[in-house]
Amino acid sequence: MSRALFDPITLRGVEIRNRIWIPPMCQYSVDAQDGVPTDWHLMHLGSLARGGAGAVIVEATGVVPEGRISPQDLGLWNDTQRDGFRRITDLIHSQGATAGIQLGHAGRKASTWRAWGVRPEGNVPPEHGGWQPVGPSPVAFPGLAIPTELDSAGIRGVVEAFAAAARRAVEAGFDLLELHGAHGYLLHEFLSPLSNHRTDEYGGTLENRARLLLEVTDAVRDEVGEDVPLIMRLSATDWSEGGWTPEETEQVSAWLGEHGVDLISVSSGGNVADAVIPVGPGYQLAFATAVKGRTGLPVAAVGMIDEPFQAEQIVALGQADVVLVGRESLRDPNFPIRAAEALRYRMPYKPAQYERAYR
Ligand code: FNR
Repeated sequence: MSRALFDPITLRGVEIRNRIWIPPMCQYSVDAQDGVPTDWHLMHLGSLARGGAGAVIVEATGVVPEGRISPQDLGLWNDTQRDGFRRITDLIHSQGATAGIQLGHAGRKASTWRAWGVRPEGNVPPEHGGWQPVGPSPVAFPGLAIPTELDSAGIRGVVEAFAAAARRAVEAGFDLLELHGAHGYLLHEFLSPLSNHRTDEYGGTLENRARLLLEVTDAVRDEVGEDVPLIMRLSATDWSEGGWTPEETEQVSAWLGEHGVDLISVSSGGNVADAVIPVGPGYQLAFATAVKGRTGLPVAAVGMIDEPFQAEQIVALGQADVVLVGRESLRDPNFPIRAAEALRYRMPYKPAQYERAYR
């Protein structure tokens, strides 16, 4: 039986075998030194590719050292890191999946303790590998350091670092690049009036707040050429009075389309500590559908899309073009195979070695 979820999708000539993709998920691996991926990343990402996902998108990867979320994050600011990613892209490709990577700068939410284990208050101090974070304005995320405001040279440095990291990602064999414009990290901090209080050409109006996002997009496109699909991840809303809104997300997504972005990955939140978020199955889906309706661009939906029929329905009804399955893929890296079985779709790339498990 044919199923919308398992139809290939093509972005700029790159065909991705189905619509179940793995979103970026930081591993905060203690053995990751200086941003270089380890055996853990190889095994983790390889098993997700083996499990039948269309694309596997590597976790938020810092474009500069101070752009990492935690000292345990991956990076792409040097060629040693680039070379470390090669075996990961080779392994993902060997399992028939498309390799993507999310390039990011954590801005005022940089130098934080990793998301699990011992988490003291505040930022990671220098003796534990921490650093002073930067941001659009000297406005702290609650509980974290006041960031140093980026001046125009600093902003130019960020744009150039995204472009250089994008070049290294392509050299490392990645087929898709995702830019992290969500979750309260640097690009989102510029977008949101709650974190951006600037009075220069990067603050104030929507055009100004979106300027850095579009400059980064243009610089990356210039660097990697016309053949590489670009994804932008956005938070559709700050879920907070006076913050970033779904309407602004739709407008900026339209601009991103004009600037050559091929797909918008629609998430939400991350810029406000005490936001009340109505979490539940598919709770961010309507934002993705609205961006698709407004822009005509393909969109990826994410957030508690955990059930095969739910995922199929989203794609079949055209609510989104791709579903991203995060935590459920950590619980079961073979979720796409399980979904195919549940939907009675004969997956041509189901590993023959596992055939007996599904008889
Ligand atoms: C995440 N998420 C995330 N998002 C992102 O844009 N970059 C990242 O590096 C990470 N890191 C990360 C790590 C871990 C362990 C989790 C669980 C999540 C968010 C993730 O991509 C996704 O948007 C959410 O998990 C919601 O989707 P699910 O898990 O409900 O399918």
